[in-house]
Amino acid sequence: MDAGERILAHVVSVWREADRRVSLGGREGMLILTDSHIAFVHKTEAKMRWWQAVVQRQAVALLRSRNIMVRHDGYGEAELARDLENEKNDEVALRDVTEASWEELAWGSVLRLAWRRGGKVERRRFSVVLDWVKYPAKDPSKYMRVDWGPLVEHVRRASGGGRRAAAYAIGVGPGDPRMMTRAAAEAITACDVVVGYAGALRTAESLLEKKDVREVTMASQEGVYAEVAAGGARSVGVLFTGDASFSESEVVDRLAEVFGGVTVVPGVSAVQVAAARARVPLDRCRVISMHVTSPIGRKKAELARAVIDGECVVLVPRPWPSRPDLEFMPRDVARHLAAAGVDTASVRARVYEDLTLAGERAFDGTVADLAGREFSAHLVVVIGDHGADSYMNYQWQWGGQRTGVSTETASS
Ligand SMILES: C[S@@+](CC[C@H](N)C(=O)[O-])C[C@H]1O[C@@H](n2cnc3c(N)ncnc32)[C@H](O)[C@@H]1O
Repeated sequence: MDAGERILAHVVSVWREADRRVSLGGREGMLILTDSHIAFVHKTEAKMRWWQAVVQRQAVALLRSRNIMVRHDGYGEAELARDLENEKNDEVALRDVTEASWEELAWGSVLRLAWRRGGKVERRRFSVVLDWVKYPAKDPSKYMRVDWGPLVEHVRRASGGGRRAAAYAIGVGPGDPRMMTRAAAEAITACDVVVGYAGALRTAESLLEKKDVREVTMASQEGVYAEVAAGGARSVGVLFTGDASFSESEVVDRLAEVFGGVTVVPGVSAVQVAAARARVPLDRCRVISMHVTSPIGRKKAELARAVIDGECVVLVPRPWPSRPDLEFMPRDVARHLAAAGVDTASVRARVYEDLTLAGERAFDGTVADLAGREFSAHLVVVIGDHGADSYMNYQWQWGGQRTGVSTETASS
């Protein structure tokens, strides 16, 4: 206890359990909330007769008003300080509390708390007992319905609002660290925890030396996000290759669910780099990502339509080695477009692999050529081309003048 600390609520006849589906090692005691701590006292110096009297008085008071912010005469800050000298009693600083909530169940009202201790998260649940069975061991037989709300509110406020970590979806660019923006680097440096797939972490390697870094895979990411959310970090940066707003929405949307919101820090997309290499203007191309888990039937139709209409398409394929039936790689593109009636030998196709990385390579041929070639999973395909269209084709727009000075400017 700190000097001047005051008791705000003192609840007796409380049953504490580990917050798991199967209750383990339940214990009877008093739950005491102060300005800055929450304590569970099950070994007290208080007298048995005092205990019996307050348990009865509390039951009557809670049946009348469910408000849990009760206090009891005969037990104050001095008594609490004395009880806390016994190491069997438990005290947690509210700043270490990571979760506080309560729930009305069929049999009574449950307070749920989680806190950090020794690098681990401990979860406990508490309920107020009305009746006990005394034999063969003391066990609750009837619980009370109470309003834990004010206590939860106080705990949340004192622990920083019971806040979840602020989540940042940070695009680190296509792979070459020089293409990571300064804003992305600053966001990574500022985060308590950094999460990412191996490739994105590699790009940001030089910033991660002293960081709490969690590498994830498709299979492990959900568990890691839950762990970080429960772990009390103030901020988490989740790294994405390229731009987090391109072809990453399934994960970014999940982050918003887990962390109650997400801020996106933009990056340079592999699609932008492919457009630069192919020298096609992205705003005049159809940009399509097949790299999604949802069905791609409509996107495949959109691709065929665009190519038939002579549009230039910048395409991110879908590698899915464990499900060849769901893959949509360059050979599948060739097959799909041929089946849609495209003369694939007359349409240009460029494939860019490992853009900006040491082994970057490019293939330049036709869509028909893609049918017989194998590429890695790390690629962007540019189908078709862009017909040059400079502003000289729009002289009428600037009143026939060749000076570059608009008539509007000249006359004003
Ligand atoms: C889930 S998408 C993510 C795209 C990323 N958010 C972006 O903006 O570039 C992953 C796919 O993007 C493509 N990709 C990402 N970085 C690449 C790079 N450096 N070179 C080639 N393709 C890349 C690959 O096709 C890869 O399978």
